[in-house]
Amino acid sequence: MEVVIQKDSDSASKMVAKMVARAVKIKPDLVLGLATGRTMEPVYTELVRIHKEEKLDFSACRTFNLDEYAGLSGENKHSYRHFMNRHLFDHINIDKKNTHLPNGTAKDLVKECADYEALIASCCGIDLQLLGIGSDGHIGFNEPLSAFRSRTRVQPLNKATIEQNSPLFDRPEEMPRHGITMGVSTILDSKSCILLATGDAKAEILAKAVEGPLTSMITASALQFHEHCTIVVDEAASVKLQGKEHYRWVFENEPEWAEFR
Ligand code: F6R
Repeated sequence: MEVVIQKDSDSASKMVAKMVARAVKIKPDLVLGLATGRTMEPVYTELVRIHKEEKLDFSACRTFNLDEYAGLSGENKHSYRHFMNRHLFDHINIDKKNTHLPNGTAKDLVKECADYEALIASCCGIDLQLLGIGSDGHIGFNEPLSAFRSRTRVQPLNKATIEQNSPLFDRPEEMPRHGITMGVSTILDSKSCILLATGDAKAEILAKAVEGPLTSMITASALQFHEHCTIVVDEAASVKLQGKEHYRWVFENEPEWAEFR
């Protein structure tokens, strides 16, 4: 795992977008794992800019989102499908049939989850997975006590997640109480991943996830198992990290980061 600290949320999100753009240039048929949420919005804005101004080509990419609300169709403006269309897919040259999210209105959700895993496997797995972190330490909708070996499944949402996301609904009580999410193990299978955390509200949980003990109470801590995981944070989200000086030294001195400095 590596931690990169940027001065503010704007430079942190632009850096993540640049890392994604570089991956797409290196492998045009990249299998990209995506996340929704407030943290990701500026990343997608920047990717749209790079597509329009620098002609980044998404035509051969395939995407898999981490999660979707159970019970919401893609037409529902609160669904994650709707979010992805609005913030990214409608503005880049990706073929929408290559963009995948779990279907929240599938009749048989257990089968939907198994099919989602099979579809990821049929693309030879996810090359690069983007992640945010929830206020309870979740990645995707992997709430506290989700098994590190969990795969895509239906997950009841806990109080912290409902408090975090329900203000985004016109009527907060309409937020679904279940999500369909890639499992922790599905995420760990990605070949590389980037977790972006911005803002002081994420500082405490981020430090627990990155530097604390492995625990399924904070599913983001499972990323300590990942061989190619980069944590990108702004100053505000970094304040509780003990190893800040070391992370800064690595970023300033390692040749692999030269093009991002
Ligand atoms: C959403 C997802 C979630 C979010 C997390 C943070 O697809 O994967 O884990 O990344 O809840 O959400 P924000 O960015 O809104 O704070």
